[in-house]
Amino acid sequence: MTAVLRWGLLSTARINDALLGADPAKQERWVAVGSRSLERAQAYAAEKGLPRAHGSYEELLADPEVDAVYIGLPNGMHVEWTLKALEAGKHVLVEKPFSPHPDRVAACFDLAEARGLVLAEAFMWRHHPQALRARQLVEEGAIGELRALHAHFSFTLTDPADVRWETALEGGALMDLGCYCISGCRTLAGAEPERVSGELVRGGDGVDASFSAVLRFPGDVLATLTCSFDAVKHHELVATGTAGRLRLDDPWHGNRPVVQVTDGDGALTEHDCPSPLGSYALELDDLEAAAAGERPSRLGRADALGQARTLAALYASAASHEGVAP
Ligand SMILES: NC(=O)c1ccc[n+]([C@@H]2O[C@H](COP(=O)([O-])OP(=O)(O)OC[C@H]3O[C@@H](n4cnc5c(N)ncnc54)[C@H](OP(=O)(O)O)[C@@H]3O)[C@@H](O)[C@H]2O)c1
Repeated sequence: MTAVLRWGLLSTARINDALLGADPAKQERWVAVGSRSLERAQAYAAEKGLPRAHGSYEELLADPEVDAVYIGLPNGMHVEWTLKALEAGKHVLVEKPFSPHPDRVAACFDLAEARGLVLAEAFMWRHHPQALRARQLVEEGAIGELRALHAHFSFTLTDPADVRWETALEGGALMDLGCYCISGCRTLAGAEPERVSGELVRGGDGVDASFSAVLRFPGDVLATLTCSFDAVKHHELVATGTAGRLRLDDPWHGNRPVVQVTDGDGALTEHDCPSPLGSYALELDDLEAAAAGERPSRLGRADALGQARTLAALYASAASHEGVAP
């Protein structure tokens, strides 16, 4: 079994709980937290059972007994703190969406590679056996030739103070939710989009409250996606081919991990994809295996760049009302 790394949490973000609770058998991997406030860091460390608390992110990065950091900062801070963490010699798991700026994402991977460090974008859903099985079924021709994809992620974001309503921190529905839809379409297509077009509805301080898009993939595969902070909770990923249809009704969290395949006559086959470990545990193990040199991380440079290029192209398209090549 791969030796666990000593992890530090960069911030006291809410999402930390998913990582901290991911694998009770490896709880010792969590050794420190850094917060903008020492008081908050200390209270957090006491509550979560973490050995050390630092009153700034810089101090966490200077901790010699931290090998890797998990960055759960607001989106607009991901690149800055990824660069600083890599400069400090730490492996980095940075939350999704890494960034809508492909040049900045490339600069982060350049630095990681130069330092021999692992950097990965935290698309936990991609590590779940459900996602791997869905891709495998499409590749094996379980639905014939792939023709169309549809991805959806929405819920109602009621708190007007949530940072996801702020332009400066790179909020917006496409960033927060649509990044999963892009990831879902790219994963099942097994390719990068050639051309995209998007439309948005604004909310908050002008960020996108809802976003819909069309993505054209090689091989005449068309994908549509919709994400929203202003609609009922709904998660879905569907692939339609010449011989059948594949559907995940809980693609992003995998709490009901079943891949449904319906053939041309309407006959349904359900592929159960149970996993003893959840997505968050699997993404931590993946980064640790990569850091140990056992295998490349499942989500490396190419994937993060594909995400960033598509996000950038979609925002450019929504601004210009024209199709854009990522
Ligand atoms: N993979 C998933 O399942 C998943 C789920 C939810 C969110 N996420 C991602 O995780 C990231 C964090 O989301 P979250 O909802 O957990 O965030 P959050 O609870 O709002 O926490 C963000 C943390 O960043 C720090 N921070 C630094 N500057 C800040 C500022 N100007 N405003 C607000 N916070 C600031 C704060 O920590 P200190 O006060 O301690 O410094 C804060 O606790 C986002 O990128 C999001 O997309 C991923």
